Amino acid sequence: MIDPSYETSIALPTLGTVRFHCLRTTDADLLYAFFQTLGKQTRAWFRPHTPWTYAVARDLAAQADGPDVIRFLVLAERGGQQEPAGYGFFENLQSARPVLGIVVADAYQEKGLGQAIMRHLKEVARHLGKRRIVLTVDGDNLRAQHVYAKMGFTLTRLIPGSSHNAREMACEL
Ligand SMILES: CC(C)(COP(=O)(O)OP(=O)(O)OC[C@H]1O[C@@H](n2cnc3c(N)ncnc32)[C@H](O)[C@@H]1OP(=O)(O)O)[C@@H](O)C(=O)NCCC(=O)NCCS
Repeated sequence: MIDPSYETSIALPTLGTVRFHCLRTTDADLLYAFFQTLGKQTRAWFRPHTPWTYAVARDLAAQADGPDVIRFLVLAERGGQQEPAGYGFFENLQSARPVLGIVVADAYQEKGLGQAIMRHLKEVARHLGKRRIVLTVDGDNLRAQHVYAKMGFTLTRLIPGSSHNAREMACEL
């Protein structure tokens, strides 16, 4: 889904103004540039787009106008240029139980951006009439769990057989 009405700019005390850009079918290069900002531990905790190749970025961009997904890149200003600093998505959007994922570029972590992305995604889900959103997080990813709990998510179940001790969290809207 590409919906410019969900594109917005917000001011963060730590980062200044950042812009939520709805991923377009022409954005493979931008998405791939964002992939390059993610370090080893970040990639280990956020795995939906493994192996992070250009082909993955191209395929994700190509699906951008489909009805079941919406993806956002967050653009921040550095040295007068805009660069991708964060990313969030919903998949299974046509179901009653959309799944979200978020990741922040290593250089932008711990500056409030992850929480801003979560607030934006919750707002989008509410506008789309969703009542419940879910995500999966690894057992050792305490920072992400803290952010999700702060944003109103609670533990719903442990994922059976997960080698990452993954758990599902959900939020009622
Ligand atoms: C998880 C992630 C999206 C959060 O985004 P972020 O911009 O770094 O997070 P924020 O700055 O908005 O918030 C971080 C919060 O975690 C807290 N925190 C940091 N390290 C922590 C830890 N080890 N345990 C608990 N809380 C921690 C911070 O104090 C802050 O909370 P506060 O505002 O209440 O003080 C980002 O760090 C990231 O991309 N991590 C790697 C990929 C990933 O884990 N993605 C999610 C997969 S489920």
